[in-house]
Amino acid sequence: MTIAGGMWDRRFAEQPWPSEPNPLLVELAGALPAGRGLGLRGGPGRNTPWLAVKGWDMALLDASISALSQAQPRAEQAGASIEPVRCDVLEWRPQGPSYDLATVANLHPAPGSPAQMLATAADVLGAGTSDIDVFAWATKRAP
Ligand SMILES: C[S@@+](CC[C@H](N)C(=O)[O-])C[C@H]1O[C@@H](n2cnc3c(N)ncnc32)[C@H](O)[C@@H]1O
Repeated sequence: MTIAGGMWDRRFAEQPWPSEPNPLLVELAGALPAGRGLGLRGGPGRNTPWLAVKGWDMALLDASISALSQAQPRAEQAGASIEPVRCDVLEWRPQGPSYDLATVANLHPAPGSPAQMLATAADVLGAGTSDIDVFAWATKRAP
């Protein structure tokens, strides 16, 4: 497995990462009925815990150990729980029941990886019979 988390481990250890959810996610997902969701490259947790608080059954996928170690406490502090999964999302494939939602935020992509990320999201959401809700956006600068 190729794990791309080393640089991010250092970044998350050196400086606090924001915890408020992305405003676009709040706008798009705020009124959706809760279901089963994935935070792809979820980082230390700003969007995934927010969705969990809203009743979503959320897994957060990330390559960074530092991110994952911060994400669950953030969710617990907010009164919810998430499932942290350490993986390379470009290689990860879903097992079990399908998902209703996949979030991708602040992608900071390597060349070629946005298309791979969206293919992963499509796999995740298309595997079952649920409605498809994909939110994908990228920013050029870290918040
Ligand atoms: C800019 S941070 C964004 C975190 C989060 N999406 C947010 O908006 O706060 C990018 C994250 O992507 C993760 N990442 C980068 N490439 C990855 C990969 N191939 N598989 C899993 N995680 C990856 C990094 O570890 C990091 O946590």
